[in-house]
Amino acid sequence: MVRMPTMEWVAGSCRLLASTAADFERDRPFEGLRIGAAIHLEPKTATLLMVLARGGADVVATGNLGTSQGATLTFLREQGITVIGDRTRDPQAQDACLRQVLATRPDLLLDNGGDLFLRYLDAPYEGLRGGTEETTSGRAQLMPVRDRIKRPVLVINDSPIKQFAENTHAVGQSVLESFLRITNRATNGRRVTVVGYGACGRGIAKNFAHAHACVAVWDVDPVRRLEALFDGYAVPGRPEALASADIIVTSTGHPGIITADDLYLLSDGVILVNAGHLPWEIDVPGLLAHPKVLTCTEPAEGLQTLTTTSGARVNILTEGHMVNLNGPRPLGNSVESMDLGFTLQARCLEAIATGRVPADQCVVPVPPEIDARVAQAYVDLAGEKRPMNAYPAEEQ
Ligand SMILES: NC(=O)c1ccc[n+]([C@@H]2O[C@H](COP(=O)([O-])OP(=O)(O)OC[C@H]3O[C@@H](n4cnc5c(N)ncnc54)[C@H](O)[C@@H]3O)[C@@H](O)[C@H]2O)c1
Repeated sequence: MVRMPTMEWVAGSCRLLASTAADFERDRPFEGLRIGAAIHLEPKTATLLMVLARGGADVVATGNLGTSQGATLTFLREQGITVIGDRTRDPQAQDACLRQVLATRPDLLLDNGGDLFLRYLDAPYEGLRGGTEETTSGRAQLMPVRDRIKRPVLVINDSPIKQFAENTHAVGQSVLESFLRITNRATNGRRVTVVGYGACGRGIAKNFAHAHACVAVWDVDPVRRLEALFDGYAVPGRPEALASADIIVTSTGHPGIITADDLYLLSDGVILVNAGHLPWEIDVPGLLAHPKVLTCTEPAEGLQTLTTTSGARVNILTEGHMVNLNGPRPLGNSVESMDLGFTLQARCLEAIATGRVPADQCVVPVPPEIDARVAQAYVDLAGEKRPMNAYPAEEQ
């Protein structure tokens, strides 16, 4: 049996999931059902999968591209969860793993990026009841095909709880934490440009500003730029926003945000960081192939440096993969934010498994009654304190 202290710490910190698991053990909402999951496999997601298993589910899981943690995979396998594949950054290997999950014909899908639902449409099968999608990127992939899915799919990302607790507060904290952990560089007085001022960008900008950086924002949407201005950030045009930055953080959910064409705009020594779900926001292969790039260091400990023919350097963190789930000791978002988000996941899957969500609720936000229930449970637990002297004498 693998003993994983992180796993114990995380599971012990997920108080909402623990109380959900107790309900699930009693009610067994997933009895006789298989849940196919494709999600970053790390200690917090492992806790969610274990909760689903305690509700009677037969869980078959694979990771997302490049983010699985080896110890978590081993732990899950030890716990009897079927885990397909290992950590990979190879899209073809990842595709094969996703198709293997679907080959087990799950009754419910727990998706993160739309990977499973899109492949389900390639080869639909009887019996799929519906499922959940975790992310902004996944919602964007699934919206155009919702008429073909014809099953309830609840988008966790669109819960107001996920938006503020995870995307804004937790991503902001963990991207800053990852930058500090990987670079060991001060943020004080550094010029940081955040590209994409959505839920994640707002939190990233605020956390870097709180760490005494001078923050500028670039977003294609003028309304978002206005919001950033009202929040107190500089909002120069794109060329100046990129050229003036010591650090650039992308958080748009879209490809090609920083490309080889931008090389001449960037300042010597700039640090490029991606917080978006897919490793496509910074076109790392394009930058590497630029004729003016002379050398490139091997990526090590999340850092890689390109040097141009003129001697200028461009630093890239975690090869353009999501910074807070890559590099040395990646922790991802805070346990509390994921406890909330994954309790929404568990309750949404429960609602679909028990037939409480109609088929026309396809690629729609979490039902408000589930948001309200989860929010109230967290507020109740947050106020609950058990003084030391309340424990029986032998426990003290
Ligand atoms: N790192 C993490 O832990 C984590 C957590 C949650 C979400 N995400 C990912 O972060 C990304 C952003 O999520 P979000 O919830 O903030 O999305 P969002 O839709 O709220 O915001 C994205 C913003 O990017 C802007 N944008 C789009 N294209 C642009 C371009 N070419 N240039 C500049 N701005 C552009 C949009 O106008 C929008 O304001 C997604 O990929 C999401 O999946 C990452």
